[in-house]
Amino acid sequence: MLPCAERVVASISRRLFRSYLSVSSRRRCNITAFMPEAAGFDGVSDRSTLQDFSVSNSEKFWAAAARHRLSWIRTFDAVRDCDLSRGKIKWFEGGKLNVSVNCLDRHVHTCPDKVALIWERDEPGSEVKVTYRELLDMTCRLGNLLRRRGVKRGDCVTIYMPPCPMAVASMLACARIGAAHNVVFAGFSAEALSERIRDAQSSTVITVNQGVRGGKLVELKKTVDEAVQSCPTVQQVFVATRTENPVLMAARDVALDEEMLKEDVVCEPEAMDSEDVLFLLYTSGSTGKPKGLVHTQAGYLLYAALTHRYVFSYQDGDVFGCVADIGWITGHSYTVYGPLANGGTTVLFESTPIYPDPGRYWEMVQRLKINQFYGAPTAIRLLLKYGDQWVRKYDRSTLKTLGSVGEPINTEAWEWYHTVVGDGRCPVVDTWWQTETGGICISPKPSDPDAEIIPGMAMRPFFGIKPVLMDTEGNVQSSSDTSGALCIAQPWPGMARTIHNNHQRFIETYCQPHPGYFFTGDGAYCSKEGYYQITGRLDDVINVSGHRIGTAEIEDVVNQCPVVAESAVIGYAHDIKGEGVFAFAVLKQGVDTQYGDVSQQLKDTVSKKIAKYASPDHIQFVKRLPKTRSGKIMRRVLRKIVEGDLEGLGDLSTLDDPTAVQEIIQGNSELC
Ligand code: WTA
Repeated sequence: MLPCAERVVASISRRLFRSYLSVSSRRRCNITAFMPEAAGFDGVSDRSTLQDFSVSNSEKFWAAAARHRLSWIRTFDAVRDCDLSRGKIKWFEGGKLNVSVNCLDRHVHTCPDKVALIWERDEPGSEVKVTYRELLDMTCRLGNLLRRRGVKRGDCVTIYMPPCPMAVASMLACARIGAAHNVVFAGFSAEALSERIRDAQSSTVITVNQGVRGGKLVELKKTVDEAVQSCPTVQQVFVATRTENPVLMAARDVALDEEMLKEDVVCEPEAMDSEDVLFLLYTSGSTGKPKGLVHTQAGYLLYAALTHRYVFSYQDGDVFGCVADIGWITGHSYTVYGPLANGGTTVLFESTPIYPDPGRYWEMVQRLKINQFYGAPTAIRLLLKYGDQWVRKYDRSTLKTLGSVGEPINTEAWEWYHTVVGDGRCPVVDTWWQTETGGICISPKPSDPDAEIIPGMAMRPFFGIKPVLMDTEGNVQSSSDTSGALCIAQPWPGMARTIHNNHQRFIETYCQPHPGYFFTGDGAYCSKEGYYQITGRLDDVINVSGHRIGTAEIEDVVNQCPVVAESAVIGYAHDIKGEGVFAFAVLKQGVDTQYGDVSQQLKDTVSKKIAKYASPDHIQFVKRLPKTRSGKIMRRVLRKIVEGDLEGLGDLSTLDDPTAVQEIIQGNSELC
């Protein structure tokens, strides 16, 4: 088995530039009909010149977009003030606005009864529609309640909820009163949640009594109870009701639905500065501690709105179906902020792709008349195994664009998505981006009018984005048909501004590796034609079912088990998940136990301490790990062993004790 990166490169070289399909008409479009703000741009006559203009006249481009797309309380004085080498990123300073007004009030003025949210609840056919007027009312009541209960501008509220209208109203209520939100994916364990609450210093948490997913109840309130035991800052927990089942309410708990009803539907929005914090979102890095990336108001919203409209060709009246959980950046930008800033109708998907059966997505597409469907390759790979009949059963004629996000999409999955799901007529946009980038940075559309799409390639930079590839010496690769470390050469409004409470880590991670450039942590290949293909992470972050997890985070948990002396965790190619988790563990001397039991125990501990998706698929017990003489674990060697690439083990002369490798190879062949 080849690792992700090599697999991808090998597969591109086989299929590169098979002229695949021309998905949009080759007619030259009227550029101002396409993007009205382009009217004032000199020399811009089509999308490729618009792309060039947006990069070489970045300030002009973003200023026009910001004026056109956002409602300002006070317009900005400066477009940008950035110095990437010092991690200084500021956009639209002097400007004041309110994000909830941009997402709600301005649409309520023009179309109050338009559906903002379609809550696709776990039980098929029980969707709930929420209009802009209703969502504004909910948001205002909730904003008033938070204010009355002492939440102030600048505070950070943690939200631990599945996708539901109340979760969206909670995010927007925070934005309305100037508090930052910190949404924690509701699949995270109590320990992971409490770590994030503590780091964010939240005194308020919002949750639901129970979640419902795949026909099962999820005890979210109980998890919060457990989490807040180790969070002395938490003073109040608001509990919304998703199921009829009562949960234990302590003195600090507040029944959210009841209390909201007592509040007024008018809530004065705070006039926020462009660079005030809108939210923190924790994500995994290459060290054990997750980092709270910080996104701010104006730049983030503008970028989410613009990418949502153009990458997916979103038109007014379309129903946008992003099935990502709101606990991830994809849910933030393309379930909530992008679609709502554009006055769109967005679907909140509470269920799973196979509940009650593998036709769930497509039955939903038919019932809700979804026009753009945005999901993860891992789900596509899973569904294609169930066969085409689950797709063909349903009418998908409303679909116009299919999107893919979060991990590389392999050719088989891409082709199935395109030919079966999209009946060969919908463009598939493979979108590359990260929590750090705030929105999509590379995708086949919209920057080329003659948008040929090559399977599984993110291809073209979005407006204002200038990718570069660095060679191993840190020089910008000047020619194409080459691979390197993917960096972005100039700032864009949607990028993260810092890591909460740790600007130094932000600088070290993103700004210092290639001074003057934003380093993404991903590797990429750039074809002769200038199209980009993401080849995978360059650091110790792996991507399991589209979810990021640092191998060090898993090792930390495994190492805490009393029987374990040390461990090493790697990612390996997995058919459905993209990458699976493989752990090597050295048990303490004298531990006399059954490997099978310990193995299960370790897996359970990782599920309990982080989340289910991080739990190792395989654990191999070894006497020792391969280490350099200076004591560094050689994960590269472990990866090669798991991939069965013994020829590729490389130079083992730096190993402290080369016999360790032979033992591991032997043990691995017995295990697999
Ligand atoms: C990976 C998710 C290949 C990449 C939006 C990135 C991708 C990490 C793609 C970010 C793609 C995301 N092709 N790899 N289209 N999209 N990735 O922060 O390694 O959860 O750095 O953001 O996912 O994951 P995150």
